[in-house]
Amino acid sequence: MDRIMIRGGNRLNGTIPISGAKNAALPLMIISLLSPATLTLSNVPRLADVRLLQRILQNHGIDIMVAGKRLGQDGMSGDIMHLTARQIADTTAPYELVSKMRASFWVLGPLLARCGEARVSLPGGCAIGTRPVDMHLMAMEKLGAEIEIDGGYVVARARTGLRGAHIRFEKVSVGATHAALMAAVLARGDTIIENAAAEPEIGDVAECLVKMGARIEGIHSSVLRISGVTSLGGTEHSVIPDRIETGTYAMCAGMTGGDVLLKNANAAHLGAVIDVMRQAGIDVDAVNEGIRIRRNGAALRPVKIETAPFPAFPTDCQAQLMALMTMASGTSTIRETIFENRFMHVQELARLGADIHLHGDTAEIRGVRKLTGAPVMATDLRASVSLVIAGLAAAGETVINRVYHLDRGFETLEEKLSACGADVTRQAG
Ligand code: EPZ
Repeated sequence: MDRIMIRGGNRLNGTIPISGAKNAALPLMIISLLSPATLTLSNVPRLADVRLLQRILQNHGIDIMVAGKRLGQDGMSGDIMHLTARQIADTTAPYELVSKMRASFWVLGPLLARCGEARVSLPGGCAIGTRPVDMHLMAMEKLGAEIEIDGGYVVARARTGLRGAHIRFEKVSVGATHAALMAAVLARGDTIIENAAAEPEIGDVAECLVKMGARIEGIHSSVLRISGVTSLGGTEHSVIPDRIETGTYAMCAGMTGGDVLLKNANAAHLGAVIDVMRQAGIDVDAVNEGIRIRRNGAALRPVKIETAPFPAFPTDCQAQLMALMTMASGTSTIRETIFENRFMHVQELARLGADIHLHGDTAEIRGVRKLTGAPVMATDLRASVSLVIAGLAAAGETVINRVYHLDRGFETLEEKLSACGADVTRQAG
């Protein structure tokens, strides 16, 4: 297994290109199941999760062609992917594949909408919490599907097709909103989704669906109104920049100090993160080419935050902020309200000398003057990258094991950081 070695202490100066958003690219690939015509996605990040979903979709019979950059595009502009689901060859999503990546469960809605049936493995537990799918199933039942659980699989049928419904989610869920939206666009009649998640990735998917011929109102809000259509066509769509990758590199630069341009980043998707970084004493400016992050000498100030659905502070940046706050001049508190077990990075940060105390869903982070490099490993993607942030400031060498977590969500992380002066290398395992 590969390892990443970091020798901390270098300030970051330069430009980091931000890739297409993993959490938009995955559902955008999935909606290709809804149409026999070709969906062409550009700015697709080169990530392990994207490759895995490619395999899953190919298993359903989708024809996928990946091309490199277009003439005139720079090397960092992502892949162009053509997806054509002329016919769905298989409506089963097997355990071996779904258990490796939860988002693949989201094929349930489109398969049901297009084929009237689907057999999708339950995703199972994961490192950050139990993550049930009850709200996904509730939405499918409201849309007229009959659902049973058989041998670890969700078996769903809608013999006479799905029909529009009024769906109200008790809790905001990104995945359940995607599922309801993807199914409702081809359902007969009108659907209202209340308490929908308003994450930018959902807006991106909805906008792409509209280009394919779907009728959706309320995009980017918490109430989506959909009028079902009988079929969807193809289109071309560029994946939005990754706001979590942006927030992560912003915190890397905030941690080390320096001056970094996050090229192509969209500040409108990161309001809460930018506010918190400014409170911490980091200069953040939205500029034409992206977002500029600067910290020159000023101490990091402690902050107090809670994670919550968009537009509040994202759970996917929680671990990274915690790493940043390990070196603040005072005590910070971070409350995690989305996932019950998303503090797996705390013990690993402690190995670098961080002083963090957990009280239920709240972490108290007492800033220290110095972190010291050590071997560490993490159990999920965002936790792993929080160790990179801490390692960039730690004295001596930090070795990050289980790099495959990072490869699921960060494209060429070591190259992007090295280009700005960090001492980060990968050792092939
Ligand atoms: C998405 O996961 C993201 N994944 C996650 O990013 C992100 O952390 C999460 O949204 C929250 O923003 C992708 O986009 C691929 P949820 P999702 O349904 O959809 C509970 C990363 O690192 N819930 O919004 O699975 C659930 O347990 C990943 O890139 C139910 O109770 O998250 C959680 O407490 C990790 N029943 C809350 O809702 C359900 O049926 C929000 O989860 C569904 C969810």
